[in-house]
Amino acid sequence: MSCAALLSLNISFSPAFNRSLTLKRTNHSVAAPTTACLNVDVRAPDSDQKPLIHEKRSSEIIADEKKFIVGTYARAPVVLSSGKGCKLYDVEGREYLDLTSGIAVNALGHGDPDWVAAVTHQASVLAHVSNIYYTVPQVELAKCLVGSSFADRVFFCNSGTEANEAAIKFSRKFQRFSHPDEKNPSVEFIAFTNCFHGRTMGALALTSKEHYRTPFEPVMPGVTFLEYGDTQATVEMIQSGKIAAVFVEPIQGEGGIYSATKEFLKSLRTACDNAGCLLVFDEVQCGLGRTGFLWAHEAYDVYPDIMTLAKPLAGGLPIGAVLVTEKVATAINYGDHGSTFAGNPLVCNAGIAVLDKISTPSFLASVSEKGQYFKDLLIKKLGQNSYVKEIRGFGLIIGIELDVSASPLVDACQQSGLLVLTAGKGNVVRIVPPLIISKEELDLAAEILVKCFPVLDQGVKN
Ligand SMILES: Cc1ncc(COP(=O)(O)O)c(C=O)c1O
Repeated sequence: MSCAALLSLNISFSPAFNRSLTLKRTNHSVAAPTTACLNVDVRAPDSDQKPLIHEKRSSEIIADEKKFIVGTYARAPVVLSSGKGCKLYDVEGREYLDLTSGIAVNALGHGDPDWVAAVTHQASVLAHVSNIYYTVPQVELAKCLVGSSFADRVFFCNSGTEANEAAIKFSRKFQRFSHPDEKNPSVEFIAFTNCFHGRTMGALALTSKEHYRTPFEPVMPGVTFLEYGDTQATVEMIQSGKIAAVFVEPIQGEGGIYSATKEFLKSLRTACDNAGCLLVFDEVQCGLGRTGFLWAHEAYDVYPDIMTLAKPLAGGLPIGAVLVTEKVATAINYGDHGSTFAGNPLVCNAGIAVLDKISTPSFLASVSEKGQYFKDLLIKKLGQNSYVKEIRGFGLIIGIELDVSASPLVDACQQSGLLVLTAGKGNVVRIVPPLIISKEELDLAAEILVKCFPVLDQGVKN
């Protein structure tokens, strides 16, 4: 039976943001189209107007999600429908301050006018043609990425995991290409404790959390996990001659906001050079301005052979990119890798708008300044809190490590209008706001966080 559904939305905004939404749906369980009319008043970002509450609508959507969508996500019970800047609004009109940016994606916040213009213009001109043909935005974005990084060439894909998947293939191909007569070329990989590289079979094999991997084994063999920061063990393993590439996040995001040391990354660089093995920096989460440096590795003055990017690059549209040196690119031939959607004109034009803004020195300086301001504020207000073990990170990627689960705090923040994430073993509050966030918004976020901390006492008493 056909599962086709027709969803037609007519959304009109009056000056008072009175939203009239008409929804027509045909699905496999309802033969005739059904029509529902909803009138929802959504508070304008700067107005005092109180939103109307439509509890039922949120609960209906959540119930339908549970019925129709494969249950891979334990979502927060919030149905978001619009956003502007660092604010998000749910279908009942409640306002949230967004310190998640869609997991480090919406670097320019929601509805950035230049991003919207780039997307709407390109959508009206040409959205997709496949990689059978050349398109201007793809080549232009590649030029911008090369011009602003260590890299000589770019391969586009659609997500972070795909970027790492491509990096795995490129690393193995590089080793075969560099040692054509070698019967047993280096095909193994090193990854580190607390790392996260993605959910597809190769990237998953490189991801440290066992419970992500074990239900799907066998994953790609040949990965050794070493302690993040253990220079001696890593250098020894690289010297074994079996390693095609070392995958490392200069700052680990999902793993709990742990930063590498300069000494560690420098030692990896030297050992890789000596052994002919590639150094891959996964900057899917920490790259593109989040640290206050355009690329996180610039903070360490250590440069990779391959860097993988994704999340913020197209400001909310799906994109991934693998940046490589000429040495690596030389090993890759026609047909070695590819993707139907990758680097289409729509996402690439969005990417150009994002990179254009983020790469300006004043934008990056503002990220550093606001990051330091917020970290100092958190240390001042929470540094002595008995639940807080450490407040770490730099730029606008900050973690508050607790000695208990962070979930009750994250839930309480959400109920108080502040969205934050967890990381690590669930004991770290992860803060990755849009990079455009203001100091006033950071002050408000700190205030809500502090007010919500007592919720942790209930967990202890239980
Ligand atoms: C460092 C890192 N690499 C790779 C990925 C996977 O990216 P995606 O979810 O786009 O596949 C993530 C996602 O959180 C990440 O943080």
